[in-house]
Amino acid sequence: MAYDSYHCSVCGRRIKIQNRTDMPVLDPNTGFGICKSCIKNIYHFIEEEEGHHAHKSKKNFNNALGELLAKNKPHVIKKYLDEFIILQERAKKILSVAAYNHYKRMKYDLDNVGGDEEIDKSNVIILGPTGCGKTAMLSHLSKLLDIPFAVTDASSLTEAGFVGADVEVAVRNLYYAAGMDIEKTEHGIIYLDEFDKIARKSGANNSITADPGHEGVQQGLLKMLEGSVVEFTERGQRKHPEAPTIKVDTKNILFIVGGAFVGIEKIIEKRVKKGDSAIGFGSEVPSKEDTDKKFNELIHQVRPEDLMKYGIIPEIIGRLPVICTLETLDEDALLRILTEPKNAPVKQYEKLLAMDNVKLEFEEEALRQVAKMAIDRKTGARSLKGIIEDVMLDVMFEIPKSNESRRVVVTEACIKGEEPPKILPLEEVNLSKETA
Ligand SMILES: Nc1ncnc2c1ncn2[C@@H]1O[C@H](COP(=O)(O)OP(=O)(O)OP(=O)(O)O)[C@@H](O)[C@H]1O
Ligand SMILES: [Mg+2]
Repeated sequence: MAYDSYHCSVCGRRIKIQNRTDMPVLDPNTGFGICKSCIKNIYHFIEEEEGHHAHKSKKNFNNALGELLAKNKPHVIKKYLDEFIILQERAKKILSVAAYNHYKRMKYDLDNVGGDEEIDKSNVIILGPTGCGKTAMLSHLSKLLDIPFAVTDASSLTEAGFVGADVEVAVRNLYYAAGMDIEKTEHGIIYLDEFDKIARKSGANNSITADPGHEGVQQGLLKMLEGSVVEFTERGQRKHPEAPTIKVDTKNILFIVGGAFVGIEKIIEKRVKKGDSAIGFGSEVPSKEDTDKKFNELIHQVRPEDLMKYGIIPEIIGRLPVICTLETLDEDALLRILTEPKNAPVKQYEKLLAMDNVKLEFEEEALRQVAKMAIDRKTGARSLKGIIEDVMLDVMFEIPKSNESRRVVVTEACIKGEEPPKILPLEEVNLSKETA
């Protein structure tokens, strides 16, 4: 049915249709229509209402901050991290202080609106070998903090115009973590993981051979770190001129970046030992312990210039004043990671088997063997779970066949693959206790 006019179903006025915008909502089947002017009025009503709520939420936000400050003092945050992360004491301290100071800055800003004094942000850069707890530490921190926190993989970012995600994605992730609340987003924390992957491949030594993709990403990130208004579209929408955009000011967002920076110890070593050729391994082949010890000593001495040599542009390094280093985990540390954290792999398997009425027992030597194998795999604590998973597969397949209470004993030979874990009747526990 063609119309040249209709009655607005809201205001009742007769609307003459001269062009498409005269009939923004018009159902040709029923004649139901809403005119442009009514839609505008509804829109303004919604805008005003939401503005009112935003004002209210700002007040609530300030009140909530006071509570958060009182609740999340650095020693409390660290204690929480201690439940999950073994060693890395200094890193846990640095992050606890960084998070607490972030709350304090927000509170200061809100209490001194219009004031010209500001407390500077202390963005953090975390360095440490693979599998030593960088991502794990940040993900636990995010669970504790009541401020929005989003992790973005920097290696997935590309310069605008290239295939991949623009740097704005980091802010967009935070916006969703903040429940699409712009005010909260603007005070959140962004963790850029795998940050070393966007280093200029050539490093600072060789800036003539440009690496445009990565350098472009760094330039984009620099703008965010400096504080700028980032504009992005809702998830899934392509950027085109008419797509509605969300604007977020990054001035007060705390940035934490982290990466393994593989090989940076060589750059540090070169600097530290300049002109001192007597120090070093000489012709001997260094043992694994020596290498780790040396790595740990070197990594703690990292300086901004080493990061520059690695290929991070100086302007970015200047915006990351806090350098936090994590160490390589040795066999004893891995052994503790197997059993001590709240979510330790051994505890997880014990819980899983307990659900089938089975008591799981790892012999001390078995756990040490797991740690040894993990060291050989050179992926830090990351491979621990996989090694146990391999050994436990058959047991986890067999156990549920019966409901009987039993126990499973894992020995060193099981870990080495020489024998399967033993499934024994539960009574034997008592028997062996009596005979002991
Ligand atoms: N110090 C630690 N204490 C407890 N668990 C740890 C520790 N380090 C690593 N893990 C465990 O090992 C696994 C891998 O660690 P994580 O993902 O944090 O490594 P990463 O340092 O981010 O390494 P990469 O540089 O390769 O990303 C996690 O599941 C974590 O639980
Ligand atoms: Mg990681």
